[in-house]
Amino acid sequence: MKKIAIAIDGPAAAGKSTIAKLVAQKLNYIYIDTGAMYRSLTLQVIREQIDFHDEGKIVSLLNDLDIELNQNFEVFINKQNITEEIRANDVTNHVSKIASIPAVRDEMVKRQQNLAADRGVVMDGRDIGTRVIPDAEVKIFLIASVEERATRRHDENRKKGIPTDLEKLKKEIENRDRMDSERASSPLKKADDAIEIDTTSLSIEGVLQRILSIVDQEV
Ligand code: CDP
Ligand code: CDP
Repeated sequence: MKKIAIAIDGPAAAGKSTIAKLVAQKLNYIYIDTGAMYRSLTLQVIREQIDFHDEGKIVSLLNDLDIELNQNFEVFINKQNITEEIRANDVTNHVSKIASIPAVRDEMVKRQQNLAADRGVVMDGRDIGTRVIPDAEVKIFLIASVEERATRRHDENRKKGIPTDLEKLKKEIENRDRMDSERASSPLKKADDAIEIDTTSLSIEGVLQRILSIVDQEV
């Protein structure tokens, strides 16, 4: 069967990574979480106490930073496992600032294109269908209402025993979506040829089946 590239984009907590992992598993494709790459750089900027506005320093930090994603969904920087750390609030609340730096995006996109050079890949993020793999055979744009997305994160936090505040989560998600959509360099935007799926009242299984039937028509 023909191997293709599947791009899954959309705003925060729309279900991209949950769905992308399942699609990859089902098709025996590799899964690449591009958000984890921006989060990894952000973690390192925080650790090294670099000024968030010092773009030159941030770019040279990235140039020396080895970011590795494996197929157990683990993330490493310079061989250190930072899978949990990159989900911390401090990282989440600063990542969009770092991801808005054009030279950071250029370098990340180059690395992501290398990772996706062979087909048989599911990649999720914000600019996969528009910039990283513009010729992806399948492009999906997942959306859901902000209330639903905040509730999903809220439930996740509760399950993990992390203190959580629904209204605060909603504001943080709205802020991040605004920054991601308004930046000049490859903003969050549905590609013209992407298929939009509103997951607000769909189950994970329901979204998975819709995407698999779209993929079926391509392979
Ligand atoms: O999973 P969640 O929606 O919280 O975010 P993520 O996919 O881990 O991405 C974190 C942040 O990285 C986003 O809010 C964007 O600022 C940035 N990002 C990006 O700019 N481009 C991508 N392809 C992926 C993520
Ligand atoms: O990657 P992204 O930030 O877009 O979302 P995620 O990390 O996959 O988180 C979405 C959360 O919503 C997860 O806890 C899923 O279990 C849940 N969910 C979903 O992804 N899709 C649905 N249709 C319903 C719930």
